[in-house]
Amino acid sequence: MSNHVFFIDPLLKLNLQKDSSLYLAHAVQKRGDQAFALFEEDFFYSNTGEIALKVRPIQLDDEDDFVKSVTLLHPETLKLEEINWFHMRLDPPFDGRYLRYLWILQALKERGLRIINDPDGILLFNEKLTAYSMARAHPTFVGASFEAFERSLDGDIIVKPLDLYQGKGVEKFSLTGLKREEKRQFFERKKVEMGGVVVAQPFIKEVASGEIRALFFDGLHLGSILKTPKQGDFLANIAQGASYKSTTLTPELHGECQKLCQRMGKHGIRFVAFDLLAGKISEANVTCPGLLVEVSKANHKNLAEEILTKL
Ligand SMILES: Nc1ncnc2c1ncn2[C@@H]1O[C@H](COP(=O)(O)OP(=O)(O)O)[C@@H](O)[C@H]1O
Ligand SMILES: [Mg+2]
Repeated sequence: MSNHVFFIDPLLKLNLQKDSSLYLAHAVQKRGDQAFALFEEDFFYSNTGEIALKVRPIQLDDEDDFVKSVTLLHPETLKLEEINWFHMRLDPPFDGRYLRYLWILQALKERGLRIINDPDGILLFNEKLTAYSMARAHPTFVGASFEAFERSLDGDIIVKPLDLYQGKGVEKFSLTGLKREEKRQFFERKKVEMGGVVVAQPFIKEVASGEIRALFFDGLHLGSILKTPKQGDFLANIAQGASYKSTTLTPELHGECQKLCQRMGKHGIRFVAFDLLAGKISEANVTCPGLLVEVSKANHKNLAEEILTKL
């Protein structure tokens, strides 16, 4: 029997039925293996003897193969060598707290812990800049310089933070007809809100007809959905009310994703959730790749089970 530990946010913060980590835990349970939850307050590293983590066995009830309810059983302790797979599943923001946990995970990895995704890779690849630095990428400004921002953009733009998720802090704005001082005021305000660095891009109109979420594991395409924003909206995040349906990838997009998977795979990134907008990669999510439930549902396949067979 294998032990899988899921390092997750408090259950209260999760949408139980749609949570990718719990969906994976459910697939673990169905195989007759054991899934455990690990919370921040029980996480540690020590070099003065044995490391045994306090974990809570997860018991899941399902309906039509999807998670219906979650029960956490009495805590147990697991020594590092008793953990077969450790799933790093904390959600962004990628901030000081996140960074500290990744450093601790690197130390645990040195002691033999097998971690998905590898903390080395998560540390190395920013989910957005990795996409923007590809040869085929949407025109993008990232930084704190107003002069460079002003030179790079005009018309309708999107501004967003570099380290958030689920459409949080993403805003549409028009620079048309604004005086330089007004642009500067807007930019300085965004800098304060976003911790010093602003991401800005021309507004891509094609978003109205949807953005693709494509899931890859070890460079293999597991499945994709087209996420379509609510009428009159531009956020293609399901957490913001976007609808979804099954879709396929063009050979070009498939090739682009594989290229990036190969690059990131060298640093231990195995599970990637891409956002593909208007024919280009716009995000390569590696911190806590999501929408496993939605992509599974739309494609009538249990992709959590598929991932477990590849471990
Ligand atoms: N340049 C853009 N033009 C139009 N819509 C955008 C643009 N950038 C982001 N969006 C919208 O905002 C959503 C969230 O942006 P994204 O870069 O995926 O960040 P995150 O999902 O991490 O919040 C996208 O799914 C898309 O709907
Ligand atoms: Mg996104």
